[in-house]
Amino acid sequence: MTGNSIYLPKKAKILKIREETEKEKLFEIILESGEPLGHDPGQFVELSIAGVGEAPISITSSPTKEGPSFELCVRAVGNVTNALHGLKEGDEVGIRGPYGTGFDVEKFKGRDVLFIGGGLGLAPLRSLINYAIDKSDEFGKVAVLYGCREPCEILFDDEINQWDELSDIDMHQTVDRCPEGVCWEGNIGVITTLIPQVDFDPETTVAAVCGPPIMYRFVMQELKKRELPDEHVFLSLERRMKCGVGKCGHCQIDGLYACQEGPVFNYADIRDVEEAL
Ligand SMILES: Cc1cc2nc3c(=O)[nH]c(=O)nc-3n(C[C@H](O)[C@H](O)[C@H](O)COP(=O)(O)OP(=O)(O)OC[C@H]3O[C@@H](n4cnc5c(N)ncnc54)[C@H](O)[C@@H]3O)c2cc1C
Ligand code: FES
Repeated sequence: MTGNSIYLPKKAKILKIREETEKEKLFEIILESGEPLGHDPGQFVELSIAGVGEAPISITSSPTKEGPSFELCVRAVGNVTNALHGLKEGDEVGIRGPYGTGFDVEKFKGRDVLFIGGGLGLAPLRSLINYAIDKSDEFGKVAVLYGCREPCEILFDDEINQWDELSDIDMHQTVDRCPEGVCWEGNIGVITTLIPQVDFDPETTVAAVCGPPIMYRFVMQELKKRELPDEHVFLSLERRMKCGVGKCGHCQIDGLYACQEGPVFNYADIRDVEEAL
């Protein structure tokens, strides 16, 4: 293997770890070379831990973030992610990428943007949300709809409060349920219950959607009721991935390679692809 092999991870160091919830941690990472990652919002990296394995993880920080480091928000679910949660600041990981087709920011510029995130789906959206905030003169109105199961699962809590205070962001949150004794003043109900609460013009609005697979069909039904054209909807779809670079075929959706043609797809391109949603 040569030093340029697409399968060879670059050495990187964990600069900071922040606990977001019981299951998710935010990792600030820097490549050993000190180079910026050079990603687009919606792209992912293959993160590896020596002796354990590799997993695809969305880049949650915006390319507009200062400095060469980048952030990954990771839920501990299996081999790699549990091993990562066991690491500490200063430890080494491997990084390949950035990979995949992210959100085409040119298609969002000059438009109003509606973000719809469910659970961990907020992680890839956060990259584009902060991009739109940092370059607010290039975007119209921004609305963020975020839902998770219970208040204890809310990610990026402090940051959401900051977004809420910005005059050009219309922030809405919901939880599916709120256990007795937990303080929650927001909406209760699935994420689709927030869509009728937002005022948007389907002609000038583009939506970015990411969440658990079950969410997409219901979100699309609500967006259709509001007459948002399919071409105005961009969805980030997760599939089992291995190589991340179009070689192994693990991520195929009816012949589409989610690791290269996605993970972000325009809804008009996948609405007739049976396995996509
Ligand atoms: C483009 C993309 C972006 C992603 N972004 C993020 C992100 O930002 N944050 C994040 O936390 N996760 C993200 N994921 C999900 C993450 O890659 C997976 O959860 C990954 O499997 C974790 O690796 P692991 O080794 O920790 O888990 P694994 O050991 O692979 O196990 C993960 C879970 O899948 C089950 N499983 C394992 N193998 C199989 C199999 N062959 N068939 C069915 N089930 C199986 C396990 O039982 C376990 O429940 C993303 C995935 C993709 C494709
Ligand atoms: S993950 Fe290997 S082809 Fe997509």
